[in-house]
Amino acid sequence: MSVPTPDARRPNPDHVAFVGGGNMARSLIGGLVGGGLPAAAIRVAEPDEGKRRALAADFGVQVFADAAAAADGAPVWVLAVKPQAMREVCSGLAALARAQRPLAVSIAAGITLAQLARWLGDGTATVRAMPNTPALLGAGMTGLCANAQVDAEGRARAEAILAAAGRTAWIEDEALMDAVTAVSGSGPAYAFLLAEALEDAARAQGLPAETARLLVQQTLLGAARMLAESGESPATLRQQVTSPGGTTQAALETFEAGGLRRLVAAAVAAAQRRGGELSALHD
Ligand SMILES: NC(=O)c1ccc[n+]([C@@H]2O[C@H](COP(=O)([O-])OP(=O)(O)OC[C@H]3O[C@@H](n4cnc5c(N)ncnc54)[C@H](OP(=O)(O)O)[C@@H]3O)[C@@H](O)[C@H]2O)c1
Repeated sequence: MSVPTPDARRPNPDHVAFVGGGNMARSLIGGLVGGGLPAAAIRVAEPDEGKRRALAADFGVQVFADAAAAADGAPVWVLAVKPQAMREVCSGLAALARAQRPLAVSIAAGITLAQLARWLGDGTATVRAMPNTPALLGAGMTGLCANAQVDAEGRARAEAILAAAGRTAWIEDEALMDAVTAVSGSGPAYAFLLAEALEDAARAQGLPAETARLLVQQTLLGAARMLAESGESPATLRQQVTSPGGTTQAALETFEAGGLRRLVAAAVAAAQRRGGELSALHD
């Protein structure tokens, strides 16, 4: 008697389908496979043949040219296309979503749960996720927000997928997702701006460019690790390196006198407002 060979291309309740196989999908897939999810359980739709081949070769995942072919039968869909492609992609999957009731996890910046419901069909359990670029290194930060159709198991599944690329936080009020975008989504660029300014200042002091870059890189890395690993607040860590009358105090007083805190608050508010404006453009 012969035992039937399981058909790896056949849908299975443990499957996760990615629609869009770009940079962000790659980092999530890498994290999931590295974390022990069998590659055969991952189905990726990607129109670009070169990217499809690379995904299959690098991770052993199943690849498809067509979104519906990848999504068909998978209980979780990760929608990982650019925001401007999301409406068309969702509309193309709406009939399947109505028939199969998957959990849809969108990682597109600024696309709201209401927009996803409109395009995929009301009643689809949907999670809106806002990751950031360090996810590409497994050091990402993702804000997650679920609609009312997502149950506890759905939340756990969505969280596990994004946790493959870093840390996650649930945001209960979707109105705050623009604030998440303004803090952690755009935040890496704020750190890069600080790094640029510090490098410029180091060079202006006469340090060679290469040395200036190394000093800044390693200082920001060390400070970020202390923030993440010491269990102390930023204020406590700052006080610990600030001796009264010392060099750090001289610099910090200059930052405070220049209104750094007010400037940071204004910058975050500007990013938050822009996030709302960009969401409205996709309607
Ligand atoms: N990268 C980040 O740091 C970051 C941070 C936060 C959020 N996000 C969000 O993550 C999403 C993906 O970003 P990304 O950087 O990974 O972009 P990306 O590299 O451009 O990936 C998107 C992929 O989707 C493919 N695609 C387009 N239409 C498709 C369709 N109909 N069916 C299947 N696949 C399709 C694209 O193929 P083609 O190139 O051939 O069109 C591309 O390979 C975006 O919505 C973005 O807002 C990204």
